[in-house]
Amino acid sequence: DLPTRYAEEQGTGGETHQTTSDAALTMTTQQGVPIADGQNSLKAGPRGPTLLEDFILREKIFHFDHERIPERVVHARGYGAHGVFELTDSLADYTRADVLSTVGRQTEVFVRFSTVAGNKGSSDLARDVRGFAVKLYTKEGNWDIVGNNIPVFFIQDAIKFPDLIHAVKAEPDRGFPQAQSAHDNFWDFASLSPEAWHMVMWQMSDRTLPRSFRTMEGFGVHSFRLVNAEGKSTFVKFHWKPRQGLQSVLWNEAVKINGADPDFHRRDLWQAIESGDFPQWDLGVQLFDQETADKLPFDHLDSTKLIPEEDIPVRIVGTMTLNRNVDNFFANTEQVAFCTQNVPPGVDFSNDPLLHGRNFSYLDTQLKRLGSPNFTHLPINAPRCPVSNFQQDGHMAMRNPVGRVNYEPNSWGDQGGPRDNPEIGYQSFPDEMQGTKQRVRSETFSDHYSQARQFFISQQPIEQKHIGDALVFELSKVERVDIRARAVSHLLNIDEGLAATVADGLGMALPEPAKAAKPTLDLPASA
Ligand code: HEM
Repeated sequence: DLPTRYAEEQGTGGETHQTTSDAALTMTTQQGVPIADGQNSLKAGPRGPTLLEDFILREKIFHFDHERIPERVVHARGYGAHGVFELTDSLADYTRADVLSTVGRQTEVFVRFSTVAGNKGSSDLARDVRGFAVKLYTKEGNWDIVGNNIPVFFIQDAIKFPDLIHAVKAEPDRGFPQAQSAHDNFWDFASLSPEAWHMVMWQMSDRTLPRSFRTMEGFGVHSFRLVNAEGKSTFVKFHWKPRQGLQSVLWNEAVKINGADPDFHRRDLWQAIESGDFPQWDLGVQLFDQETADKLPFDHLDSTKLIPEEDIPVRIVGTMTLNRNVDNFFANTEQVAFCTQNVPPGVDFSNDPLLHGRNFSYLDTQLKRLGSPNFTHLPINAPRCPVSNFQQDGHMAMRNPVGRVNYEPNSWGDQGGPRDNPEIGYQSFPDEMQGTKQRVRSETFSDHYSQARQFFISQQPIEQKHIGDALVFELSKVERVDIRARAVSHLLNIDEGLAATVADGLGMALPEPAKAAKPTLDLPASA
């Protein structure tokens, strides 16, 4: 009989069946009422009119009307997969974080790769930086390494981020281009921001045309801290090294691929995982103490600088394997919320001013994007360890304090709910602070060209040619010739040969070099 069959099919607990692909299930309304006919609305006679009474029609249309949520303000186009991280080398001497201490520990992960500038419907193979965001569901809470496929960033201070992104994205009057770099506003901003030029060199290189998400490196960019059980702090940079190797396509290939298959990267990842060819990345760390940091010829708190791997080698400590595609794109890839401030005990922050801005920005934007402070209750964002606190209510609350007590301190003994625990709880590293309150950029952040040159001369001749070609192509899209000239004036501080090639390609005379705040380190020029 129907009620029994219905109860058996639907289950009696809190579970919900959201798929209509299983023919054994009866379709229901959101209230659980079985639907006899979901394809014809309720009418007064076969030719209408349609009746307002039709709650099945109204609910279905109402829900459809509200399907869209705002796309991410940056990194709108992304693709994700589930996987596992396994630790192979213990960092217990450096951190009390369980995920980095117990060799063999397997930790569930979710990864989202993305482009930065294009909207949600843009093409995968745009010349753009790629996001590489990893959520590790550790036993001590979620840890997000929200990185990119490039180890440095365009700006040094988070207060410049809205300007950078406005300049990078489509121009406000015309609503194009989707491309990150091929327009006046981007090059105007970059040519007025000397700090951007190290990253611009990476952006113009083959790194921004990855062959696949599977063949990209990932970088946490900022210096973080590891803090061990004795409270000792060590600085750390995080790296993901693809076991598939590093591969890119050529610009001509990218243009054709985008036209033929704008979903090239997402299809590639989906198919690799579906066919059991699981991509893997090794997690590497660069570890260094304050004394080493003090000797570096740049400031490691400046996100436009990297630490050369020759100086501080990358130590491999574990492997991440992506082994499961999502069963629903929206529930996982769209609703996942990464944030740099999500760290377990034993991982802490450095004073990088870009990082501090990010720690605020992600949570703030996610409240708007996901619509409720309870987005941590969504399955993709929910920790896989116990969660207990007195936060309550709000839109869509699925996890509320249980019982009578919802405050601390309280004297309700065993019924008093969760308690603070200084033994295992998160302790911020007691970094000593002093300073004058001022709006300022550290003088130690002012060498803008040495690492840009270092990157360029580290490239093979064919890679250097690609950088020159990319600069000529991108700058040739810039209408204002004064912006082109200002761009080339920075190149003169990076590599004179490159500047000459680009000026020649653009049919312009060489301008004066840009004024450098600090002399470039004594490095060889390119061959
Ligand atoms: C999104 C990386 C700098 C604000 C993202 C995502 C990545 C990322 C990978 C996409 C996350 C996802 O897949 O859902 C980086 C890196 C940076 C950087 C590596 C520099 C080292 C900044 C700064 C700000 C910022 C300085 C703001 C001050 C945002 C916002 C989002 C975002 C608002 C959208 C988040 C969402 O809607 O969930 N970033 N970002 N980012 N980033 Fe950044």
